[in-house]
Amino acid sequence: MIKFKNVSKQYDGGYLAIKNLNFTIKDNELLVLIGPSGCGKTTTMKMINRIIEPTSGEITINGESIKQQNPVELRRNIGYVIQQIGLMPHMTIRENVALVPKLKKWDEAKYKDKVDELMKMVGLDPNILGDRFPDELSGGQQQRIGVIRALAADPDIILMDEPFSALDPISREQLQEELIRLQQEIKKTIVFVTHDMDEALKIADRICIMKDGEIVQIDKPETILRHPANEFVRQFIGEDRLQNSTSLPEIEQLMVPPITAYPSRGLAEAVKIMRQKRVDNLIIVDKDHHYFGVVNIWDMRRAYGNEQLTLMDLIQKDIPTITPNENPEKAIQLVNDSPYGFVPVIDHNQKVKGIINRSSIVKFVTDRFDDSMGGI
Ligand SMILES: Nc1ncnc2c1ncn2[C@@H]1O[C@H](COP(=O)(O)OP(=O)(O)OP(=O)(O)O)[C@@H](O)[C@H]1O
Ligand SMILES: [Mg+2]
Repeated sequence: MIKFKNVSKQYDGGYLAIKNLNFTIKDNELLVLIGPSGCGKTTTMKMINRIIEPTSGEITINGESIKQQNPVELRRNIGYVIQQIGLMPHMTIRENVALVPKLKKWDEAKYKDKVDELMKMVGLDPNILGDRFPDELSGGQQQRIGVIRALAADPDIILMDEPFSALDPISREQLQEELIRLQQEIKKTIVFVTHDMDEALKIADRICIMKDGEIVQIDKPETILRHPANEFVRQFIGEDRLQNSTSLPEIEQLMVPPITAYPSRGLAEAVKIMRQKRVDNLIIVDKDHHYFGVVNIWDMRRAYGNEQLTLMDLIQKDIPTITPNENPEKAIQLVNDSPYGFVPVIDHNQKVKGIINRSSIVKFVTDRFDDSMGGI
């Protein structure tokens, strides 16, 4: 357990970067520090391994003040991963991963297998990559090495300062997944700094939101989403994520674009459109998108033999429609009751805005889950 007690940091020149921090990081939890640039995340993190010393207050690890411990020794027992990776360019990948065990003068036999095992754990083949140098690996591979290097000496605590922020979105997501999986296996106490709320929501057991050297809220992601402490937290999370699945969607958020056709079209043309767009109904409109009605594939099938017919002859006008400012619950009800399984949305100028069907409702609801849960 890492405990901050009344910790402040004033940099030379008088800037008070950290103001009386009091909080606890539990054993085996992944705590994410997040907040705007300059709010003190890196300073907070670097005080844990004594790269930066607090001006006042005390930090303890398992009840013991870190001031009593030798800083070099302390750092060897705390894994540290940073954005710039910091691999040694003249050492091979294996040597890089083995750096701390070696510094700790472990027997080579003790860490030799461990290095290969760690590489495999993050999907890198030690036989192919083990003897390469860092600049012979991609950015994502190097970053994986940075992560497992921090694990090699089996520290209880790992500090990660924006470790994935220089990566492309795909590598970044992969590494987030791997971190979640690794953490389930190895159960370390991890302090992870990020700017990215999606990343925080995805990986954190708890999120600590900071502003101007102070903690604004520290809670589980679910609690932060449901009960943001104040306007700053709300803003920081973003309104999209806060609109959780219980808030009512506006009609327009439930809609998908309609597949339309003019009433003058022949049936063969209409079938072609339906096949192409994979729909079983067409919304019939004029050139200004005014609504006429709906033509259904089964009616077309029955009438297909008559080459004189156009869509005009098959239009159904009596199916239920809805306007954009009606209650979304009504739309959901209408979709459920409709024999065709969808409802056209028609505005006050009689123009078609879109349609709502089961899959557009499902998409809306699941998108909300994705947003509010960071894609998990
Ligand atoms: N060595 C230093 N001397 C003086 N001021 C510093 C020093 N290091 C950091 N600061 C200031 O302390 C504040 C906190 O810096 P810190 O690096 O902890 O922020 P951060 O939250 O990690 O920001 P970022 O998201 O940009 O990395 C900032 O205002 C910064 O300018
Ligand atoms: Mg920083």
